Amino acid sequence: MTPDNIFSRQRLARAIAFSTCAGMTLWLSGVAVAQDGFHYSAPAVAPESGSGYEEKPGWTTSTFAVAAANPLATDAGYQVLKAGGSAIDAAIAVQMVLTLVEPQSSGIGGGAFLMLFDGDQVHAYDGREKAPMGAGEDLFLDQEGNPLDFTAAVESGRAVGVPGTIKMLEAAHQAYGKLAWKDLFEPAITLATEGFPVSPRLYQSLVSTPSLAEDAIARHYYFDDAGNPLAAGTVLKNPALAEILTRISEEGSAAFYQGDIAEDLVARVQGHESPGSMTLDDLSSYEAVERDALCTPWREYKVCGFPPPSSGHLTMMQTLGIMAALPEVEVPVHDGVPTVDWLHPFLEASRLAFADRGRYIGDPDFVEAPGGDWNTMLAPDYLASRAALVSEQSMGSGGAKPGNPGEVQTAWASQPNQPEHGTSHISIIDADGQAIAMTTTIEQAFGSRIMANGGSELAGGYLLNNEMTDFSFTAQDEQGNPIANRVEPGKRPRSSMSPTLVFDNASGDLVASLGSPGGAAIIHYTGEAMDAMLHWGLSPQEALNLPHAVTLGDKVYLEEGRFPQSTINDLEGLGHDVETQELVSGLQALRVTEEGIQGGADPRREGIVMGD
Ligand code: GLY
Repeated sequence: MTPDNIFSRQRLARAIAFSTCAGMTLWLSGVAVAQDGFHYSAPAVAPESGSGYEEKPGWTTSTFAVAAANPLATDAGYQVLKAGGSAIDAAIAVQMVLTLVEPQSSGIGGGAFLMLFDGDQVHAYDGREKAPMGAGEDLFLDQEGNPLDFTAAVESGRAVGVPGTIKMLEAAHQAYGKLAWKDLFEPAITLATEGFPVSPRLYQSLVSTPSLAEDAIARHYYFDDAGNPLAAGTVLKNPALAEILTRISEEGSAAFYQGDIAEDLVARVQGHESPGSMTLDDLSSYEAVERDALCTPWREYKVCGFPPPSSGHLTMMQTLGIMAALPEVEVPVHDGVPTVDWLHPFLEASRLAFADRGRYIGDPDFVEAPGGDWNTMLAPDYLASRAALVSEQSMGSGGAKPGNPGEVQTAWASQPNQPEHGTSHISIIDADGQAIAMTTTIEQAFGSRIMANGGSELAGGYLLNNEMTDFSFTAQDEQGNPIANRVEPGKRPRSSMSPTLVFDNASGDLVASLGSPGGAAIIHYTGEAMDAMLHWGLSPQEALNLPHAVTLGDKVYLEEGRFPQSTINDLEGLGHDVETQELVSGLQALRVTEEGIQGGADPRREGIVMGD
């Protein structure tokens, strides 16, 4: 029996079933579908001790599927799809539950990018946070003009960008929702009211983020009287969030962007000891934007991803495009581990792509694309010229320089690399063939570590993002050339998020939806998984299990404990400066096959796939 059979979603969905996933056993109680609309039925969940890496079985469904980073969130999306909801309906239910159960990664206090396939066309909804109008180039500089300490910058009101997730979801729902907006909040409101068990991963995140307890609301909510993080399995209610979600479900996004909930958010940002400048005007004037998706030919596929302000698609497709212009790697994987024959060109191509990323990519409302079109960075001739720089020896740390896409001289300076973390990914295909890939974030674990509660007297609330630290701390290089991704009022910070929808180039049929959290390494994680799934022929689960390799241009990071010493030695022999470390992706992937929709969830996190 294959793992897919053991965890067949058809069996899971039929009635009462269970699924074991990283540290949680989820008893699915089935879906209550009533004639008068959608009704959520909370599953019973029994937490177990979590491990850092837990094998996932892989799943196969026949008509629809949802993959998300937490079983309760996946189940909420599943129930919406089962009740006839569309992919965007399910995504809204998933996001609201993630706000509650995976608060360290994403939520209503953050931003997101949504790729949506309506069965005919691809839409790219931009819910990225914006800099308040009072934020300028000196946002993260001290009085001497030096960049602030990164952690000090993260844990501050000035790190908080104007959240975009709610506005973005509302815009997409108005266009493609089938169920009532209000109903989609029911799962999260029910779980927030009745309680949900703290997952092992949430517990671990609390343990590794003790500074969260410096926020009074968060300390009261996430820590016990002795100051210890709530243990995995503790049943936690969030009545303040239930109240806020109820308001948004009844009044729409205006309940969040105006009035008392907005006033509380602004007070939390401005009242921090390192205050931000966000105002009620910043909030009430926020609009999500629909952008033109970037759809790029790659092998026999058309890969659609998010344009700037995300660097995700451009950098991932530069990497894979450079590799496609190099000689074919005959054996990319051996015993579930990428070979050096694949790793070396992947790392060299990544170095080149990240050099261009650091030089050119920023919010398109402020930064012109090279040659006036972001596709210049993906032009076959340009990628072939970049591939010609890859040789048998590595160009080594700092060896890759930006190219000149669009053949136009620019005065941009390269942005130095900065840490980027956090985030969550959702992939959904509905029964009508609509699909979404949505990557959603509050940036670092627990964002700015500031919790807002709408001014409620009740416990709990939601976390505010620290997305402003995705901007370059410095505005220019030593020669005075400006950095594309510098802070400017009303600007969106550059992202690495790479929500991806793949189509067959000849037929136009949907082939896959995938993406990952992981800061700048999102790009490597998603690129590796897509290459493995669609070019090497691995199943989604096999692709997501692969050990990771990452470089932003200097050191190479290999996933700790997952590669043989011979791989490290061979890469060092080729001139790579190698270190090993944990590389905690959170990939979700769905692939449409003749047998049905195959799904995979990252063994490094708590996600599962569900569907019928
Ligand atoms: N904050 C993660 C990203 O936008 O890439």
